[in-house]
Amino acid sequence: MPFAHITGWGISVPEPVLTNEDISKMVDTNDEWIRDHTGIRERHIAREDQFPSTLAVEASIKALQVANLAPTELDLIIVTSSSPEYIFPATACLVQDQIGATKAGAFDLLAACSGFIYSTNMAAQAIRSGSIKNALVIGTETLSRFTNWKDRNTCILFGDGAGAFVLQASDVPGGVISAVMHSDGSGADSLTLLGGGARHPATEATVHEGKHFIQMDGKAVFRFATRVMGQAIKEALELAGSSLNEVQWIIPHQANYRIIETAAKYIKTPLDKFIINIERYGNTSTASIPIATVEAIQKGQVKSGDKIVFVGFGAGLTWGAMVVDWTGPIPAKKHVHPEQYRAFARLRSFVRRAIRLIEGFFSRKEL
Ligand SMILES: CC(C)(COP(=O)(O)OP(=O)(O)OC[C@H]1O[C@@H](n2cnc3c(N)ncnc32)[C@H](O)[C@@H]1OP(=O)(O)O)[C@@H](O)C(=O)NCCC(=O)NCCS
Repeated sequence: MPFAHITGWGISVPEPVLTNEDISKMVDTNDEWIRDHTGIRERHIAREDQFPSTLAVEASIKALQVANLAPTELDLIIVTSSSPEYIFPATACLVQDQIGATKAGAFDLLAACSGFIYSTNMAAQAIRSGSIKNALVIGTETLSRFTNWKDRNTCILFGDGAGAFVLQASDVPGGVISAVMHSDGSGADSLTLLGGGARHPATEATVHEGKHFIQMDGKAVFRFATRVMGQAIKEALELAGSSLNEVQWIIPHQANYRIIETAAKYIKTPLDKFIINIERYGNTSTASIPIATVEAIQKGQVKSGDKIVFVGFGAGLTWGAMVVDWTGPIPAKKHVHPEQYRAFARLRSFVRRAIRLIEGFFSRKEL
């Protein structure tokens, strides 16, 4: 059975920064309150011309560069997002087209902030089964578009960004070792975005009622998150046959500094074993785990040979954890330039659209 290694990684974070100070000009809050209650100091907000697919493509190209893998070699693309570009088509298909992943299957996976763990596990299982060799997993968010900037309960929390992992099959032991995924839909009401779906299709009334904004029972989510995080870490480690002593880093979903602090106490592990960067990004939902991972790699914290636990939780309710033996890129003699495939992808997309237009024109004549 092949192993599923994480061989590439990349992130894309929009440049514009929104500080707590800036938010205090929009709602009745202040920097001290936000930092004390969440650990957040600032977050990045997508420009008007940036979408989940824009950020996802940038993160993907970087991840493919690290993995030294051409987009044409990808078998599968999974995008996970709490703020997808559309209900359909899947954001993953937009990414597939823009990076030129000519033979990849592509779909979106919705598990809110647990999405990156769910998706990475699904890609790893597909590789472990032997049915595919190369997968791309992307968490991408422009949650700022669904944030009610008049609601101080939620607008202080979220930020935009994207992160991607490349997973590849290898006979060398390592990579994704174990994962647990859980859900409890009885808590569905705790964190929602109700508007625009089949139950509340967009109407003037739904817009008026603010159903297109994130709504949250903060206290309920806080209680849930602190209860499940530690448990999930323990479960995934048990499944991997490992113990916390063997783990170099825990990389949690970055929702609230205090939630991470409470989880650390629960598993009796010092906070310095956790990678925490919520201060500068806020909660970027599905993108928070890869963004924290890539920063930790860039700082020289996460290294080849490390055992890492990823842990996440979110709306659904969903939660999960994953144990990974971190290896890094698979050595290869070839040298590919994934960014060069973008020009080819643009041309290919243009030609296909043109052919579709011509086909449509002639088929109308036939009718
Ligand atoms: C949202 C959250 C930060 C609120 O913190 P909290 O400590 O629970 O705060 P409370 O809701 O108890 O509010 C305490 C007081 O601060 C006020 N308050 C709430 N938001 C505020 C803000 N942004 N600025 C200033 N005061 C605020 C409340 O009105 C309340 O005032 P009151 O005591 O006069 O009624 C916290 O519950 C949380 O982080 N929950 C988890 C959310 C999350 O992670 N969601 C994503 C999951 S993926």
